[in-house]
Amino acid sequence: MTNPMSSGSDPVIRVEGLVKHFGDVVALDGIDLQVERGTVFGLLGPNGAGKTTAVRILTTILSADAGHATVLGIDVARDPQAVRERIGLAGQYAAVDENLTGRENLRLIGQLTHLPKSTYVPRADQLLEQFGLTHAADRPARTYSGGMRRRLDLGAALVHRPPVLFLDEPTTGLDPASRNDLWVVIQELVADGTTVLLTTQYLEEADRLADLIAVIDGGKKIAQGTAPELKATMGATIVEITMATPEAAVQARGRLQPVGVVEADYDGRTLRVNIGEGARGVLDVARVLEEADLVPDAFTVREPTLDDVFLQLTGHRTDEPGDHPTPDPGDHPTPDAGPDVPATSEEGAA
Ligand SMILES: Nc1ncnc2c1ncn2[C@@H]1O[C@H](COP(=O)(O)OP(=O)(O)O)[C@@H](O)[C@H]1O
Ligand SMILES: [Mg+2]
Repeated sequence: MTNPMSSGSDPVIRVEGLVKHFGDVVALDGIDLQVERGTVFGLLGPNGAGKTTAVRILTTILSADAGHATVLGIDVARDPQAVRERIGLAGQYAAVDENLTGRENLRLIGQLTHLPKSTYVPRADQLLEQFGLTHAADRPARTYSGGMRRRLDLGAALVHRPPVLFLDEPTTGLDPASRNDLWVVIQELVADGTTVLLTTQYLEEADRLADLIAVIDGGKKIAQGTAPELKATMGATIVEITMATPEAAVQARGRLQPVGVVEADYDGRTLRVNIGEGARGVLDVARVLEEADLVPDAFTVREPTLDDVFLQLTGHRTDEPGDHPTPDPGDHPTPDAGPDVPATSEEGAA
């Protein structure tokens, strides 16, 4: 869909001072964002950071308490209908009708968005083909795997060919192969000129897809940059060491300070050393420990992860539900994530 209301160089999405409270919970605490045309913007944050709230405001499902947001120059609060016609939304909570087939689901969206049948029928087939679902097109969606459902959901968001696409944790809970399939599909969409705002908990996903990443936590933007810029703040490589006792960890920490930035994990025995360059730093860490006769129980060399970025930026770990219960350091106002967003029926009804 062409859009006469927005000229070439304006940001496609502009968010200024967005605030949203749910009772006592501050879900968004003054967020600013700009998404440029034809780019992927990644909103990266742990559970409860405010990602879905931001997406729901931008997709006109929810209204903000304060601040201002435009999509393609259109104010989301003043002209929600015009925004809705120009956007697609897909995400973690796939909005497909379980009892309809894949093909029926896509055709239904075409009907609901008032496309002529001569348009949506071939378009449904084309999307099924594009997303590798032709073989399953005439099976009820309830027989689909998780990855197939997400692809169908994404297809449903694209039936009306929106120039702007919102993807709320599109691959959370998927196995690596399905995640990869979806990444390829998203990259193809971007290559065709779609502007994408994507939320994710995975640094790897933001890394792979996003041109620019905003890290949010507790409803605030705490960092922004490209993936290489964010990772550079972490050091190129991390050596993770687990000592037998907290006392040994304290000793090791003292010895390792000159080698790189050392952070201790909450268990008191695990240290993370951010080293600038791979091989050299690893040898330095090993040598320093050896010289002090401090033999670790475990010694791992790895790339920085989202957890590391968070630990560095916020002093606490990301906390996926069902994962390790985090002893809260006590100084962080974000309430524990608990269940993610309460199940919504409106979410997919765009
Ligand atoms: N409808 C709601 N009612 C009450 N609290 C909510 C609602 N939606 C979100 N929240 C709370 O707002 C905060 C941000 O949630 P959300 O935007 O869903 O985060 P994310 O998508 O990053 O996990 C969380 O503390 C969450 O529990
Ligand atoms: Mg969410």
